[in-house]
Amino acid sequence: MLKILVLHGPNLNLLGKREVDIYGKVTIDEINGALKKIAENKKVSLKIVQSNHEGEIVDVIGTAKAEGTNAILINPAAYTHTSVAIRDAIAACGIPAVEVHLSNIYSREEFRHTSLIAPVAAGQISGFGKTSYALGLEAAIELADR
Ligand code: DQA
Repeated sequence: MLKILVLHGPNLNLLGKREVDIYGKVTIDEINGALKKIAENKKVSLKIVQSNHEGEIVDVIGTAKAEGTNAILINPAAYTHTSVAIRDAIAACGIPAVEVHLSNIYSREEFRHTSLIAPVAAGQISGFGKTSYALGLEAAIELADR
């Protein structure tokens, strides 16, 4: 069975309460529930982690290969724009990664227009709310199956 690691970065635990005009009312549990349904239909297994800590995210990516992970779906949240460490972890891990964002990072503040992660990701999906995750999981499953 293919194994996908789903990683949610900082503050995404607050979805549903946080800046709802930007991120909507969807909660992280609802997003995870939708991803689990897709995974069930496609017969893949998911490991889902949310962390507010850069080093913990680096550690989870760093152990993914040894755990048999075939692809990574990641919303690096604010670390998208700042974290060389997460970028290097993705580059080093030898597993394809799909970067997703709920909001369209290119239509927001200028500091969000740069993703340090995008150059080492297989691709990026940005701006479709919770659908970004669903599309991202479909892409991650395709990559995992190659
Ligand atoms: C985000 C966009 C980031 O710029 C922001 O820091 C987030 C969420 C998104 O999903 O739209 O926390 O990754």
